[in-house]
Amino acid sequence: MQDIVSDARAERVDIGFVPTMGSLHGGHAELIKVSSMRHSLTVVSVFVNPLQFGPSEDFGTYPRNLDSDVRMIREHGGTHVFAPSAEEMYPQGFATSIHIGGIAKELEGAGRPGHFDGVATVVCKLFNTVMPTEAFFGQKDYQQTLVVKQMVADLAMPIAINVVPTVREADGLAMSSRNAYLNFEERNRATSLFRALTRAKEFIENLEAPLQKRKALPRLEIEALMQAALQEVSVEYAVAVDAATLQSRDNYFSGEKIALLIAAFAGRTRLIDNIVTEIV
Ligand code: PAJ
Repeated sequence: MQDIVSDARAERVDIGFVPTMGSLHGGHAELIKVSSMRHSLTVVSVFVNPLQFGPSEDFGTYPRNLDSDVRMIREHGGTHVFAPSAEEMYPQGFATSIHIGGIAKELEGAGRPGHFDGVATVVCKLFNTVMPTEAFFGQKDYQQTLVVKQMVADLAMPIAINVVPTVREADGLAMSSRNAYLNFEERNRATSLFRALTRAKEFIENLEAPLQKRKALPRLEIEALMQAALQEVSVEYAVAVDAATLQSRDNYFSGEKIALLIAAFAGRTRLIDNIVTEIV
């Protein structure tokens, strides 16, 4: 991989990069499409990264379909697939970890200890292998995009990070490899995440006159609205936080950007989704 990209860079070909864990769906396809529109060479990595799974999580059962992934990558304009084995990525003696503080500590970081260190470590190694000029991440994993941007800024990595909007099913459910775990009834209940986010977003964007006069929007009011729409799933968090810092504040004000973030279980499947909005 490094030989291929070194040759390309020597010829001033710039490189787009889409890191994935495979089992590709329409969300991944969109990242690949956007990259291939912007770069003549698009590398897609397919690697189920053991470092980012907790001991009781689904590393063993995570869906793996390399053949159909390769077809899909080609179909959407990817030019190279990088699918290393775990031994290649983490040979015996591997001893380095990237630890990200700050925004990585909350939410997903709190519920999945070590998760973002695992993500940062693999993304760093993939960046060093693929040497992209621009890398593409989905807004679906909003906190992950902030963690990657933090790492790239802190460690002065010369790579642009492009965040692509979440791709959804017709009923609003965010596409995810883990949706494959849902049975019919759980699949129906899973739509409540997007409903809750949409309701809160509409509430924030269409504040009635009395609220506008109040000029402060209490966080608890937004979060209660989301909770009310999430009766059919088991909620881990449903929060309205500052979109840049992920800090939660008691009140939000006109002009501020808020990230609405949800993690919830439908059956045994953990789903996340988010919407970023601005108070007018
Ligand atoms: P994975 O879950 O396979 O996702 C790969 C990329 O696809 C991520 O940037 C993710 O945000 C994006 N993505 C997933 N579903 C999407 C959707 N519905 N719409 C838009 N983009 C979507 O995220 C990972 O893998 C890993 O943590 C990784 C970054 C590869 C490191 O191991």
